Amino acid sequence: MKHTQDYINANKERFLNELLHLLRIPSVSADPAYKDDVRRTAEFVSESLKSAGCSRVEIYPTKGHPIVYGEHIIDSTLPTVLVYGHYDVQPPDPLDLWHSPPFEPVIKKTDIHPDGAIFARGSCDDKGQMFMHVKAFEAMIRSGNLPCNVKFMIEGEEEIGSDNLGVFCNEYKDMLTCDVVLISDTSVIANDIPSITVGLRGLSYVEVEVTGPNKDLHSGVYGGAVGNPLNVLCDMIASLKDENRHITIPGFYDDVVEVSAQERAEMNKAPFDRNEYMKGLGIQDTQGEKGYTILEQTSIRPTLEINGMWGGYIGEGAKTVLPSKAYAKFSMRLVPNQSSDKITNLFKEYFESIAPPCVKVVVKPHHGGEPAVTPSDTPEYMAAARAMEATYGKTPIPVRGGGSIPIVALFEKVLGVKTVLMGFGLDSDDIHSPNEHYGLFNYYKGIETIPYFYQYYAELKK
Ligand code: BES
Ligand code: MN
Ligand code: MN
Repeated sequence: MKHTQDYINANKERFLNELLHLLRIPSVSADPAYKDDVRRTAEFVSESLKSAGCSRVEIYPTKGHPIVYGEHIIDSTLPTVLVYGHYDVQPPDPLDLWHSPPFEPVIKKTDIHPDGAIFARGSCDDKGQMFMHVKAFEAMIRSGNLPCNVKFMIEGEEEIGSDNLGVFCNEYKDMLTCDVVLISDTSVIANDIPSITVGLRGLSYVEVEVTGPNKDLHSGVYGGAVGNPLNVLCDMIASLKDENRHITIPGFYDDVVEVSAQERAEMNKAPFDRNEYMKGLGIQDTQGEKGYTILEQTSIRPTLEINGMWGGYIGEGAKTVLPSKAYAKFSMRLVPNQSSDKITNLFKEYFESIAPPCVKVVVKPHHGGEPAVTPSDTPEYMAAARAMEATYGKTPIPVRGGGSIPIVALFEKVLGVKTVLMGFGLDSDDIHSPNEHYGLFNYYKGIETIPYFYQYYAELKK
């Protein structure tokens, strides 16, 4: 292990420069205009895996963006780790809120990252975290210290629902055989408080279109009589939660597994400062479901959030118009045992049922994903916990995450294996937001910790 860490120390600068290169390619999966850049990114990842020492690397085209697969099988009697990550990124919009261009990475110090952080789209989610695995693998190979077989599956459609990865996993089940999936695409509580994510929420995503009159109208001539789709949409949305901010869709909570009082008490022991939380976000108060703490509201409880809403006149100045149409996009985060399809259907039925006769409502389902739990009593969890102990000097705390990585539930279903979510980002790293960044401390800590995971995992599986 010493040789591996020496190799990492001797190559830090190059490891950083290579990541900066990767961050300069704008791999926005959602926007077809970036299709070639997404492909170029897959090629970069593929070349990196080859030069790191992978014996077989291939780019698999899909109906959408390509999947990069690499493997290094050293001994069929050793355990096999499948590393999953994504090289695609969220759109950088709104561009004018970035302090430096999203695809021209710069390193700046911040209060939370006194050693500097890389500001660029994808720096934390997930190029930076994915690339740590490539570099850790390189270090293990070059220092003659690789104790497991490794497979890499790096996709380009995580941020748009991983539809084609699902197809790929089914088709290449045999090639993907492994003992565990290892992912770094989540966060730690703080740089001095390591944690391991032991659960992710699922997702149901829908878009609604509300149509009133057959054309835009003068808001003085018709207003007061004709149902305004924007007003109607607001009324409908307001009725989706009650005064305790419970969701009112009938059946919404039916399948929710209530977490035991003991487990809740345990989870609320995790360090959390409500005032710091609010200060960081510039808010005076929070507004969550009654009866639950913020940590619970953002992990073990399902949610319903509007992600966007539009209609009518949104240009400069005023225009007196009663619009013909109004739109909104919603995401619902789901917890264990809830089903994405079922919740989407419940939403659709209910939303259509509460529409007043003056409008027509169409609900369009988007991609979704199932929740996942990754237990903390498995060899892979123990290996990750010991690895973090080795590099942070502290035992990591198990925490349930609020975000979603839908493919985790699928790995369990299709490949029959559990995942370990050993992420190194911070919740304050502004993923999906302007000025996304990733601490240099976090990048290097990840590269240093990963080889320990392999070592302890191989030992525990003996
Ligand atoms: N890496 C995130 C998920 C995440 C972030 C999990 C932080 C836990 C903590 C991932 O890239 C992501 O953004 N997933 C999407 C879901 C997808 C279907 C678009 C999400 O959570 O919105
Ligand atoms: Mn991610
Ligand atoms: Mn993301």
